[in-house]
Amino acid sequence: MKVDVLLGLQWGDEGKGKVVDVLTPRYDVVARFQGGPNAGHTLEFEGQKYVLRSIPSGIFQGDKVNIIGNGVVLDPALFKAEAEALEASGHPLKERLHISKKAHLIMPTHRVLDAAYEAAKGDAKVGTTGKGIGPTYTDKISRNGIRVGDILGDFDTIYAKAKERHEEILKSMNFEYDITEIEKEWMAGIEYLRQFPLVDSEHEINALLKADKSVLCEGAQGTMLDIDFGSYPFVTSSNTVCAGACSGLGVAPNKIGNVYGIMKAYCTRVGSGPFPTELFDETGDKLCTLGHEFGSVTGRKRRCGWIDLVALKYSIMINGVTHLIMMKSDVLDTFETIKACVAYRINGVETENFPYSIEGEVEPIYAELPGWQCDMTKMTSEDEFPEEFNNYISFLEEELEVPIKIVSVGPDRDQTIERYME
Ligand code: GDP
Ligand code: IMO
Ligand code: MG
Repeated sequence: MKVDVLLGLQWGDEGKGKVVDVLTPRYDVVARFQGGPNAGHTLEFEGQKYVLRSIPSGIFQGDKVNIIGNGVVLDPALFKAEAEALEASGHPLKERLHISKKAHLIMPTHRVLDAAYEAAKGDAKVGTTGKGIGPTYTDKISRNGIRVGDILGDFDTIYAKAKERHEEILKSMNFEYDITEIEKEWMAGIEYLRQFPLVDSEHEINALLKADKSVLCEGAQGTMLDIDFGSYPFVTSSNTVCAGACSGLGVAPNKIGNVYGIMKAYCTRVGSGPFPTELFDETGDKLCTLGHEFGSVTGRKRRCGWIDLVALKYSIMINGVTHLIMMKSDVLDTFETIKACVAYRINGVETENFPYSIEGEVEPIYAELPGWQCDMTKMTSEDEFPEEFNNYISFLEEELEVPIKIVSVGPDRDQTIERYME
């Protein structure tokens, strides 16, 4: 058996959580492979709304095993709050949420370092989520990190040493902080973690595959936020792309099966950094209002713009996407005209190839298509799709050269339409 990977093709918040939840019944196991509580994955069903940050989105469908892989960075305090809230709402997870011993721990001082580095950057700040993601991955790569498995050893000594290093850096930056309270919560989180199966997830996943079990890997963030291929330096600190599933779970490249690429029918971005199709006018405001484009966790307003096919083609190439999933089509229901960026004009030269940098003057060149101007939110089958919507889909498929297999027409689990027609 192979693992299927589901990931975001834009700047995050494409709707990954919703689709993982919808697809979970088809899999035995769901696994996260990178990122941490910078993620906010929203799921809605039976009138309830949940936002997941570190816990995989396969936790609600039956009693499936969910895995937090080695590529993830975990904040025990935030994890405890998230897991306890789920348990309290009737979703027990202690036995079926397995955590890799190789996942790195986000320390309270990592959060402080995140704030200190951002402050030092001034206007050039990344606009991070402030969760300590960058500093934790930095420690991992520079071989100074601490891992979940460390809590099984002489953790106090390991923690104190790492904290001392951070304190020295913060002192040299003259950055003032007080972690007394969050450190208490964090230590309580460490104790809480001990109640979960702490595993060698690479062995577990490969044994599952050998036993013909199916695994769905859930990406966080999006390809345009990837540390290598995103709009650097305005990116996150992990490999959000498909290859991240190999390194973040210990799955060999030849074990990757379907790659589900998720995109919104338009585009959003939160935080700083270039965004060629961003709209600063009332159309942008309309997308924001109708799409409720505010961060699931931080509440920050998301920047909105038209769909960018130049960037999407690049994302599809990097990830080897086999199936496209289009989210939030309903947000465009009332638009008379819909635009899609088919090329960039940079210094007077047109290109369809995603360039080295999209900073500076990148003028999007748009194709315009008629909108469908009807309510799609109650549709349940592709037979009901209006002609203009079918035309929009055909146009996108022709440009992107990958079939759109699922269309989402609302936030609820049930507002999901699978396409069978070619
Ligand atoms: P993720 O981080 O990729 O899981 O996405 P988020 O949860 O951060 O953001 C997606 C938002 O869009 C959430 O508020 C979802 O409830 C919502 N959503 C998902 N699919 C649809 C859809 O098809 N239509 C509408 N209107 N909202 C959707
Ligand atoms: P999900 O999984 C959208 C953005 C931040 C910032 C940059 C770096 O919900 O799609 P970080 O805290 O990771 O160092 O911030 O990345 N960012 C996200 N944007 N969705 C996310 O996750 C994001 N996670 C990080 O806004 O620009
Ligand atoms: Mg999100």
